[in-house]
Amino acid sequence: MIPSIRGTRDILPDEIDRWRYAERIIVDICGHYGFREIRTPVIEREELFAKGTGEETDIVQKEMYAFEDKGGERVTLRPEATPSMVRAYVEHALEQHLPTVKLFSLGPMFRYERPQKGRYRQFHQLDVEIFGIVDPLLDAELIEMATRLVSALGIESTELVVNSVGCPTCRPNFSRALLSSLGDRTHELCTDCQRRALKNPLRIFDCKVPSDQSIIDSLPHSSDYLCADCRTHFEATTSQLTAFGIDYRVSHRLVRGLDYYNRTTFEVLGDELGAQNALIGGGRYDGLVRRLGGPDRAGIGFAAGIERLILAMPSNSKRAGPDVFVVAIGTDAFEPAHLLARDLRHGGVTSCVDYDGRSLRAQMKRADRAGARYVLIVGGDELARGEVTVKNMESGDQSTVLRSDVVNRLREVMLKASLSDTR
Ligand code: HAM
Repeated sequence: MIPSIRGTRDILPDEIDRWRYAERIIVDICGHYGFREIRTPVIEREELFAKGTGEETDIVQKEMYAFEDKGGERVTLRPEATPSMVRAYVEHALEQHLPTVKLFSLGPMFRYERPQKGRYRQFHQLDVEIFGIVDPLLDAELIEMATRLVSALGIESTELVVNSVGCPTCRPNFSRALLSSLGDRTHELCTDCQRRALKNPLRIFDCKVPSDQSIIDSLPHSSDYLCADCRTHFEATTSQLTAFGIDYRVSHRLVRGLDYYNRTTFEVLGDELGAQNALIGGGRYDGLVRRLGGPDRAGIGFAAGIERLILAMPSNSKRAGPDVFVVAIGTDAFEPAHLLARDLRHGGVTSCVDYDGRSLRAQMKRADRAGARYVLIVGGDELARGEVTVKNMESGDQSTVLRSDVVNRLREVMLKASLSDTR
């Protein structure tokens, strides 16, 4: 056997219902908030992320699947979607075609990280981005949408954390304050942080090394160094969150691991995933479109980790198998059973049927193991009367239905069930 690559996963048939369910809710919610879908390639020029995500980030320094292609071009599997979305927005001049550019995308991302529960080398994100609007009401609307997503998926006990990382006007003051507060303690920090201190001191807040934490805790807070415009923006954002009735915590350490952010940053944290507890992360990135060769347009967005959302979703006790399992008793019933299965399938009812002429007991066991909601029994008696026996596998109730009515009856039952299914 040739095993799969570490950090990648097969999404098996048993899990796929949860994925489809989550994706359906996600796509619906994106629609309700006015987003349109876009699909960008999973492979891009390496330069896009060096410039976009940031040369000094862990993602670009350590985690990219970057290589030279056969034509000698430096390319990479995308580690995140934001730079690709910006590239597409600029490359296709989307602002000329769409009144407000609100885009969403779903797909795999690739980061060479140490795999553990909730952290993979290939994982999936919902990415949403909005271009061209600087109003803080939009920051609050987008954060509200992030909280709506998790609640619509039935995920409870989450925490919303927000911060402002300032802008190119006020951030240099904050960086200087960080360095002067660090003073000669810089060499006590890990080598990554020593490099961060030289290149981008704000990144020090990303550090997870336990021995660095007491020094990091003593550092100044970005909120004390915001310029008047950034302060007003943050206050307007948080007061709108309050108006929406959303609880949040301000954390000055929330600088996020990507370099493009300015002003608002936020994360939605779950409580079941241990260290990998960020379900959603995002923020504003007003300078990025220009940095990537586009017009001077504001940007804001977030990404949700689909694997993490699915891990955090409540488990579904509903039967996940086919709607119907058709059981044939005796060789005379084989052909009618297969015709019935075909008619059910043509009527939109998911149906399985047995092939090997097993006993009634063995076939019932199979139907149960397959997770079928209903078993339809076709035997000599049923054939003689032109009927089918219908057994509800959840309640155990059993009744007989005319063969000529059974497809429509099952269609109705399954339609009602799908309407009342909350998940
Ligand atoms: P990010 O915080 O790097 O932000 O990733 C967003 C989410 O993707 C995380 O909160 C997590 O749920 C999921 N995620 C990240 N890495 C992994 C992994 N190795 N395994 C499983 N899930 C993972 C971004 O990617 C930004 N592009 C978000 C953004 C959009 N900011 C503005 N617009």
